[in-house]
Amino acid sequence: MTKLQATDNHFGQDVSASIEAEPDGVIALDPDLAALWEFAAPLLRVRNNDAHTLYAFGLASALLDAHPEADAAVVLPAIMLHDIGWSQVPPSEVLSAIAPGGGRPDLVLLHEKEGARLAAEILAECSYDALKIPAVLEIIDGHDSRREALSIEDAIVKDADKTWRLSPHGIDTVMDWFGLDRGQALRLCSQRVHSHLFTAEAKAMARALSALESVTEWPQRQRLLNAGGDESLTRI
Ligand SMILES: [Fe+2]
Ligand SMILES: [Fe+2]
Repeated sequence: MTKLQATDNHFGQDVSASIEAEPDGVIALDPDLAALWEFAAPLLRVRNNDAHTLYAFGLASALLDAHPEADAAVVLPAIMLHDIGWSQVPPSEVLSAIAPGGGRPDLVLLHEKEGARLAAEILAECSYDALKIPAVLEIIDGHDSRREALSIEDAIVKDADKTWRLSPHGIDTVMDWFGLDRGQALRLCSQRVHSHLFTAEAKAMARALSALESVTEWPQRQRLLNAGGDESLTRI
């Protein structure tokens, strides 16, 4: 169970006055992009693509911090809209498109093409900067199938999309998609991510995420979890 609300205070004092409102690294969603999300979300309901998109957006934002030369006005709408084309693929066929062992390349291409078509409509509807739209659509049309990156913006979108798989939400999602245990999902995602990234920053992020999930699988860590209680406190 994830602890969302603190109910115990082992320390015994209120520390909240020491917490900054907006420390470096904590990100918010810009209102223009929040408006875009309202159009995207209904098209992303299949197979957790909505939550996938938000987390991939967060990773793209972090990668943009490391690449000031990249155009955020291209990267951010592209990552937010990259998977809306799955809405045009029958839900029962979405997982067969990306399943290990071959998949359905025709459906992967279909979701890219349909995604670019729908994104053009949404961006026009939102009066998005027309000068940026061709680059956004070019990234969406090929985000999975194209082996090379056309630009730093394309590289960031591809890297954020793939690195998500190794995030806690990505591992949870892949476990559910294919009926895998956590260790199997970690190995599957690791073999499908590390050698396919473009930026040094995403490579480092992905290795960190794989390392943390690996430790969770170690018997030493599992024994602590199975023992229950406040192992983090008794350790000190
Ligand atoms: Fe995709
Ligand atoms: Fe994606």
